[in-house]
Amino acid sequence: MAPTVTSMEASNGHEVPKGASIKTLADSASFTFVPSEYTYTKNPNEQGDANDPEHSIPIIDFALLTSGSPDQRAKVIQELRRACEEWGFFQVTNHGVPENLMQSMIDACHRFFDLPEEEKKEFQTRNLLDPIKCGTSFNIDIEKVHLWRDFLKVIAHPEFNSLYKPAGYSEVSLEFSKKTREVATEILKGISESLGLEADYIAKAMNWDRGLQILAANYYPACPQPDKAIGLPPHTDHGLVTLLIQNEMGGLEVKHKDQWVLVNAAPGAFVVNIGDQMQILTNDKYKSIWHRAVVNNKATRISIAVPHGPSLDTPALPIPELLEREGQAPKYIGMTYEKFMELQASPAGVKKPCLDHLRVKHN
Ligand code: OGA
Ligand code: NI
Repeated sequence: MAPTVTSMEASNGHEVPKGASIKTLADSASFTFVPSEYTYTKNPNEQGDANDPEHSIPIIDFALLTSGSPDQRAKVIQELRRACEEWGFFQVTNHGVPENLMQSMIDACHRFFDLPEEEKKEFQTRNLLDPIKCGTSFNIDIEKVHLWRDFLKVIAHPEFNSLYKPAGYSEVSLEFSKKTREVATEILKGISESLGLEADYIAKAMNWDRGLQILAANYYPACPQPDKAIGLPPHTDHGLVTLLIQNEMGGLEVKHKDQWVLVNAAPGAFVVNIGDQMQILTNDKYKSIWHRAVVNNKATRISIAVPHGPSLDTPALPIPELLEREGQAPKYIGMTYEKFMELQASPAGVKKPCLDHLRVKHN
């Protein structure tokens, strides 16, 4: 298909159309190496032993959290607290969301990315909070290096949005987003309790009933030189908690004690991580952990990250009860979630982590 966007001649002689999906590039047989626009060099301090078997993210048994005995629940809440303090990442098993629903969701997203480029065009937009949005890389207008990924982001809460194609996407995404939100709600309650607060404290404070939920699908095609490209560079997530599922290809790495650790999630588990809003609420007790997605040269990887946040008009602030208990001063100023997300997507947010913009300066 002839690209309609302007082309630029890559320094290695390949013609790379600006804004073309990475799928289009990866599908073309001539790509046996990573074009210069996509060449990403990992910082020396970003290297690490990603496969150290000693390091594996903690497992939280959801069934014990929701239907265990009081003792069992108390024990899981302790495990949750430790997971949030020590890792900021954990996997949730026995959550009751059927594995075939998760698989159907991944398949539906795969079918979306497989649509002809022409058919995806109507969903391409640059506005951050448009309810449906697909594209490539992160922000092709301001970034220096393009990412080896395409994306589809659909807002599923407080209003459910969907696509009329591919067939089945709408039904599957409705079911999946509801079930995933139920799991997120229980995790949020558990996290509240793990902080010594009422189970519904954070939900109330963050207007969870109007909270944002995004189905963010990532498509990472096989890459001929995986060490020279990146799917998603190191970043933190903006919300309260993100729940993630993926197809059989791994690639998510988590920064833990200055090492990158590959997440080996159990099949059917949700990978959950703490986001920036939670770090603000807890005044740094539960940190929003840096993570990245690396690519591979074997097969397409698909992940669906589902960030859950406050309502767009809610500013997160350190929780007064926690500050009082710990005798701490607030480390962050407030900003609505909407402004926070805008900041994260802006050049200022790319240059410096958003949390650093909000940090109170003590002289
Ligand atoms: C994200 C994300 C990781 C992955 O979408 O925010 O971190 O493994 N994705 O795709
Ligand atoms: Ni992320």
